Amino acid sequence: MLVLGIESSCDETAAAVVRGNQVLSDVVHSQIAVHAEYGGVVPELAARDHLVHLRPVVEAALAQANVTLHDIDAFAVTCQPGLSGALLMGMNFGSSLAFALDRPLVGVDHLAGHLLAGFLAFPTEAPPPPLSFPFIGLLASGGHTGVYEVLGPEPEQMHQHGGTRDDAAGEAYDKVAKLLGLGYPGGPVIDRLAQQGDPDRIFLAAPMADKAQLDLSFSGLKTNVMRWVSENGRPQNDQTLRDLCAAFQRRVVESLLKKTRAAAELRGISRVVLAGGVAANSELRRRAAEFFPAPDYELVLPSRRAATDNAAMIAYAGSFSLAAGRDDRGNLTMSPRTRLVTVTRKGAGPRPEGP
Ligand code: KG4
Ligand code: ZN
Repeated sequence: MLVLGIESSCDETAAAVVRGNQVLSDVVHSQIAVHAEYGGVVPELAARDHLVHLRPVVEAALAQANVTLHDIDAFAVTCQPGLSGALLMGMNFGSSLAFALDRPLVGVDHLAGHLLAGFLAFPTEAPPPPLSFPFIGLLASGGHTGVYEVLGPEPEQMHQHGGTRDDAAGEAYDKVAKLLGLGYPGGPVIDRLAQQGDPDRIFLAAPMADKAQLDLSFSGLKTNVMRWVSENGRPQNDQTLRDLCAAFQRRVVESLLKKTRAAAELRGISRVVLAGGVAANSELRRRAAEFFPAPDYELVLPSRRAATDNAAMIAYAGSFSLAAGRDDRGNLTMSPRTRLVTVTRKGAGPRPEGP
């Protein structure tokens, strides 16, 4: 089944054609230039930019896959979570195509897409391991951060065991970068600077260090950086800046990996999958092998392309319910919130994430 995926939940307009987990095309238009001067994503501008770019991006995805719209068997669009106006743009565009061509369409949870992205086969990359369940997924992106027990490909089978109590990991990168005058998005630039820094020269306290607690927190760490800057002045482009980035990055990376390992131990699951934009981080990738050594663990690292926002993961995540015969045309609903369930730690079982 040839599936065209459309992603527009935040600041990337993306389209992709997949067959199973085989990525035939993957086109991403980034809005970074639109939002850079504001130091973060402006929802209204994001929606307007999606409107302009959806058509050329979908056309490029079809051309790259060497297919026409009539070859597409089904459509998958991100319907949650995300910026409402941005989501509606992609959903409306995808729905129009599905109705016009009389093909099924499903709405996809963006977080489910991220959690499955490590199993996508991109033509120029090493083949991924075969998809199998269960696994522990660390999802760390700009909008969400949590540790999930993934029992199957549908959102209802993805249970969050710990999540951030405040900022997402990528959001912390972006806010600290803004504070340091490094521009948006902050992850890649802090990652690069940290590689030349000494993480031991500046002390920043570890966030939520209690091992028994699976929740994460990054706003305290961000405040610590802010306090350091107000006491010592904003470092210029020098070794102190690199050291500060290295100290911040080490705290984020260790916090993410410790909570993920704690969840794997708690649930007795040895397969661990990293996901989300922060999974592109060089230190996270390097240290994940140290936290999850073979043969005790099987670690699945998505390529950088698969980790950051893309539409191939949306098409792939949608392909499971499409194969089961689902068609959301006519009752497609948008939500700024996810459908993935949060597990309460008091033994009450899974509960849907509340509004
Ligand atoms: O998953 P993603 O592409 O979009 C969302 O769903 O949010 O993640 C974007 C986030 C941004 O906050 C960005 O700063 C962060 O991922 N990011 C990184 C790196 N590359 C992107 N964070 C740390 N290190 C990186 N190399
Ligand atoms: Zn994302």
